[in-house]
Amino acid sequence: MLQNMTVQGISGTGALRLGAAFFSKFYSKGKDFWIPTPSWGNHTPIFKHAGLDVKSYRYYDPNTCGFDFNGAMEDIAKIPEGNVIVLHACAHNPTGVDPKPEQWKEMSALIKKKKLFPFFDMAYQGFASGDTVKDAFALRRFIEDGHEVALAQSYAKNMGLYGERAGAFTIVCGSKEEADRNMSQMKIIIRGMYSSPPIHGARIVTKVLTTPELKNLWLGEVKGMADRIITMREKLVAGLAKEGSSRNWQHIIDQIGMFCFTGLKPDQVERLTKDFSIYLTKDGRISVAGVSSSNVDYLAKAMHEVSK
Ligand SMILES: Cc1ncc(COP(=O)(O)O)c(C=O)c1O
Repeated sequence: MLQNMTVQGISGTGALRLGAAFFSKFYSKGKDFWIPTPSWGNHTPIFKHAGLDVKSYRYYDPNTCGFDFNGAMEDIAKIPEGNVIVLHACAHNPTGVDPKPEQWKEMSALIKKKKLFPFFDMAYQGFASGDTVKDAFALRRFIEDGHEVALAQSYAKNMGLYGERAGAFTIVCGSKEEADRNMSQMKIIIRGMYSSPPIHGARIVTKVLTTPELKNLWLGEVKGMADRIITMREKLVAGLAKEGSSRNWQHIIDQIGMFCFTGLKPDQVERLTKDFSIYLTKDGRISVAGVSSSNVDYLAKAMHEVSK
């Protein structure tokens, strides 16, 4: 019978760091951590800080501004047996590009065949579709397929608890004894790292998740927030068309979650910042959460100006 071993993490970052420490100590001698290209900028420092070697597999295709499924599958097929593969469970940061359910299924089968250990990073549950269950599809599918998985979760974004540092690290184990053994080792690691986590944010999360009324309210708010982001994506693309842009911006709608890889080049990003006071990362990533009905037209006009 499957049994979870779950400990509180210091938000998502701390959960990843705990996982890294655990794998470094008990699993990864001579094995590497594989992250997608690109990945969240802090993955490499977190894993390296735990003494792990980090390598990458293809993920984003700049030509389509979408998922490079074939590239990812080719690279995954070459990862040596027993290595750890890091997967963004949903709403990939920074690209906003997620595999489709059918693609997840194929990835799961390949990862199983290759005997890789899947380590899910779920920092944005609810941000992709507005439905926390839908956004857990990949994770659940992998567990159904018989993987033992590791999972780092953050409640910073989906509960708006950034400063409280509320998160969780889980290993889905094959039995209760295995979970108990992992738990006792995990406690030893935590004791030496920071002794015990802050309590306040975790109590808020527990209260919300265990009180049906509050949970429903929260789920409704997550949906409202995700729907707003989806609407802004559509408005931005409509605005670009209205400005007369002849470029294909469909990827802005197709991408998912809080972030959007616009496909704008560094010189265009620089112009957006210098001439229009619009701030985004040099790789062309915008936070769609920062787009609103009062600035979306201005953004569309500026993006058209720099990309004509
Ligand atoms: C992919 C990913 N993982 C983990 C985190 C960790 O977030 P936090 O430590 O704020 O919970 C982030 C935050 O930006 C993220 O984008």
